[in-house]
Amino acid sequence: MRKLLVKGCEGLNGEVSVSGSKNSALPILAATILTEGQTTLSSIPNLLDVMTMLKVLRALSIRAEYYHPNQVKIWVGSRVKHVAPYQLVTRMRASFFVIGPILAKMGFAKVPLPGGCAIGSRPVDIHIKGLERLGAKVRMEHGFVVAEAEKLKGEAVHLDFPSVGATETIMMAATLAIGETTINNAAREPEIVDLANFLNKAGAQITGAGSEEIKIEGVKRLTGVNHRIIPDRIEAGTFMAAAAACGGAVTIKEVIPQQLEVAILKMKEAGVEVVTGEDFVTVKSQGRVKAIDLSTLPHPGFPTDLQPQFCSMLCRAEGVSVVKETVFESRFTHLNELKRMGADIKIEGRSAIIKGVERLSSAPVVVSDLRAGAGLVIAALSAVGETLIDDRDRQIERGYENILKKFGGLGADIKVVDEREDQGIPAPHLQGA
Ligand code: EPZ
Repeated sequence: MRKLLVKGCEGLNGEVSVSGSKNSALPILAATILTEGQTTLSSIPNLLDVMTMLKVLRALSIRAEYYHPNQVKIWVGSRVKHVAPYQLVTRMRASFFVIGPILAKMGFAKVPLPGGCAIGSRPVDIHIKGLERLGAKVRMEHGFVVAEAEKLKGEAVHLDFPSVGATETIMMAATLAIGETTINNAAREPEIVDLANFLNKAGAQITGAGSEEIKIEGVKRLTGVNHRIIPDRIEAGTFMAAAAACGGAVTIKEVIPQQLEVAILKMKEAGVEVVTGEDFVTVKSQGRVKAIDLSTLPHPGFPTDLQPQFCSMLCRAEGVSVVKETVFESRFTHLNELKRMGADIKIEGRSAIIKGVERLSSAPVVVSDLRAGAGLVIAALSAVGETLIDDRDRQIERGYENILKKFGGLGADIKVVDEREDQGIPAPHLQGA
């Protein structure tokens, strides 16, 4: 079991560089299934989720190798296996995104239904409806989604919700369909644009990625290419929230500031000084920000993946903030942990009313999902005392490369607790804690 011991600090100072985007790397790795030949991907973050996706590709008889630092080479033939492994897909929802590429390439795909998780049931009905629009026959079979289509045909597809994953699934499947596909009400996240850029380099004909209408003209085949993954805007936003919550001056490097527009706007609204350059964002704060209201929305709205981190920052704000989560049905699990640290929060449906307090205090807390974990690290850094964070499923490492080293470089004191702690024997440095 993994536990982090986080010491409250009086500020974070220095520079930190973000890694490549997890949520761009995962769909692009899935998209390599569509290609034939060798692909080299750089700026691939060394994360548990990335390693899981490489295992999924290998299970499909694709050769996928990770080379330190941050490079992946993939070799794909004209055929791949049709069935994605159960234990990997249920471990990581993003592995479900292989269904579109396998179906488009092989005419048959059998992929386990991904499990729900701490932030909601996370159905895949929009993915399935889109594949059916392209002519696939889809059925459920013992927990697997089975999709068949001699040859997919281009069609107009309307998404009931601008789902990121569904947009990616349909866009990938449509690249090898016959004729033109139009996706209406498509997701507009930067990761969709990065995926489209990768596919177009490989020979696809995609226009409109990043807007709510994407057009894909089907082609016969796609070839392997070289591609560099975009920076991780959510990791960047996480460090911004940490600097604002703890106080200090932090420069976050190797970012694309335009992708952080709304987060920067909300930071400024909270009275935080934010300076942006070509590829960096500098955040300066005294530690107590002003209360703000925010609602998560599909891009270009405020990103749901930054909601937990901003909630932690707002726990110490001057005044009352209202945070509305409109993307996921239940993404407030971390708030109960914050209340244990002394936060004054009331949850009413999809809204959290956060009344700022002077300081949070340390308390043992548990990580429920990746971004909640990041939020708890921020809360613990801005609290008084030492907080023990139980991250039993190593959620934080799923999405943050070298996070302990990166926070350490800003002056944070975060230790992995001695594993003996698991057997109830307090680790030496914890005795008498
Ligand atoms: C992607 O998940 C991201 N993951 C998530 O990041 C992110 O929170 C989410 O997009 C929203 O931005 C990856 O890119 C790997 P959705 P995805 O489909 O595609 C509902 C992180 O921490 N929905 O846009 O699964 C769904 O239940 C992760 O990095 C359906 O109803 O998200 C949710 O309420 C967490 N039916 C909403 O849409 C469907 O078929 C948004 O989900 C699909 C989705």
